[in-house]
Amino acid sequence: MRKGFIITSIMLVLALAVITFLYPFLWWLAFVLLPFLVLGLIDYFQKSDNIRRTYPLFGRITNFLEKQRHVVQETVLLNRTEGKPFNWIQKEIVYKRAANANKSQPFGTQIPYDEVGREWFTHSIYPAKEVIDDFRVTVGSSLCSQPYSSSILNLAGMSYGSISKNATLAFNGGAKIAGFAQNTGEGGFTPYHQEYGADIIFQIGTGYFGCRTEEGNFDPEKFQEIALHEVVKMIEIKISQGAKPGFGAILPAKKNTKEIAKFRDVEKGTEILSPPHHSAFGNDEEMISFIGKLRKLSNGKPVGIKLCVGQKDEFERMVQTFAEKQNYPDFIAIDGAEGGTGAAHMESLHWAGLAIVEAVHFAHSTLTKHKLRDEIKLMAAGKIISAFDIYRMLALGADACYSARGMMFALGCVQSLKCNLDTCPTGITTMVPSRVESLVVEDKKTKVANYHKNTMEAFRELLGSMGLENRTGVHRKYIVRRINETETKTYDEIYNSLK
Ligand SMILES: Cc1cc2nc3c(=O)[nH]c(=O)nc-3n(C[C@H](O)[C@H](O)[C@H](O)COP(=O)(O)O)c2cc1C
Repeated sequence: MRKGFIITSIMLVLALAVITFLYPFLWWLAFVLLPFLVLGLIDYFQKSDNIRRTYPLFGRITNFLEKQRHVVQETVLLNRTEGKPFNWIQKEIVYKRAANANKSQPFGTQIPYDEVGREWFTHSIYPAKEVIDDFRVTVGSSLCSQPYSSSILNLAGMSYGSISKNATLAFNGGAKIAGFAQNTGEGGFTPYHQEYGADIIFQIGTGYFGCRTEEGNFDPEKFQEIALHEVVKMIEIKISQGAKPGFGAILPAKKNTKEIAKFRDVEKGTEILSPPHHSAFGNDEEMISFIGKLRKLSNGKPVGIKLCVGQKDEFERMVQTFAEKQNYPDFIAIDGAEGGTGAAHMESLHWAGLAIVEAVHFAHSTLTKHKLRDEIKLMAAGKIISAFDIYRMLALGADACYSARGMMFALGCVQSLKCNLDTCPTGITTMVPSRVESLVVEDKKTKVANYHKNTMEAFRELLGSMGLENRTGVHRKYIVRRINETETKTYDEIYNSLK
């Protein structure tokens, strides 16, 4: 092919010379064809891409198709049960709930009941006539003086910088309308988190963005200024994130605009790498005293930690220390390994951390074993989309849930997997002004609120169908999983319940 290209090119040039000599009015042929020839020659001589080197010009077609592979798959080729991390059925649930559209589905389920791993809930012969539950939970141990009444579904942390200004604003507006909390993520507390007055969970990560010293360490004064703000209801210390546990966070240089650099106290246009570890604490005792310090600085607001479960013995030791010292966080947010991110290292994205179902079961059991279950609330995040997902988490022991990507779908996310490239087609995870403008805050804040409201309504109906009048009756025995071709087990049997 390489030799063929050179021979064809020489012949083409000769043919063009002859044609334009004989028929000068066909000069434009050279104008059209020569750029292709130049591209082909570039391919021929370059050394980094073997396909383009072997197939000059034509190799570009394969490269182009490879780049568009995901978009074509997502939009044209996949059927309703396919697509990752979320399939079309999951996305459609959010799109419809966000749009307040037709709640029904025709014909029958497309999720096969005979597949190993398939799960469902069990309904009652006598559905409840009425479900009376405000779907709120009070977060705040006896060590905190300003407990917070939280929705059982909140917006998970997504930093300003990983998501755009309009996305942050739409989330803030939606959270205010529907009455749930917006977690800032680790990128600081910005004016966009205050625009509509929604409740805020202020998150600090290892970069201490928004409250860092020049050297990148924790700055108590800057923290206090934010923590005492009236919309800030809780504080969350991010220890690790499901998509990249044990690794630091990355904000690509392209997304580090002047404004973001200002909010984060960093240099504009540089890649921002938050370290994997905290500089404010390095063991359980130090963590406990840091939590106490933040609680004091925030005037007694609930302070929690967010982590993805990794080494179980370490987690158990940490909880044991909480119990021995009778000093602990007000909540623990567990992020499943299947959790999302704006950008992550590949090893940590694919192969690190415990999945959310096992992790919530383990965290709940450990807290129960150390008699801390009443003091420390448990939040869960990891592909929570539907009311059934919420039920599973509560059945395993979570008190409340977080959703990040579900809420992104409410903003119109199409799962194009471009969050780390600054080319998000829906204006959610990009800083490019023209793309950000495509996300209309007034419209999307209503959609976010609708999604939340309709999911809570669906949860109410789901409880009713199980014959439960409120969520105190939620139990593992009402969830079934197919474990092989002929057998099923309830969650109660699989995750041997601690009664
Ligand atoms: C674009 C994006 C940005 C995120 N940024 C943060 C962050 O700043 N801090 C954090 O703790 N988690 C962050 N996460 C993780 C989410 O908070 C959440 O824990 C995880 O995505 C699981 O929820 P999901 O499955 O509903 O998306 C981010 C996730 C996404 C998709």
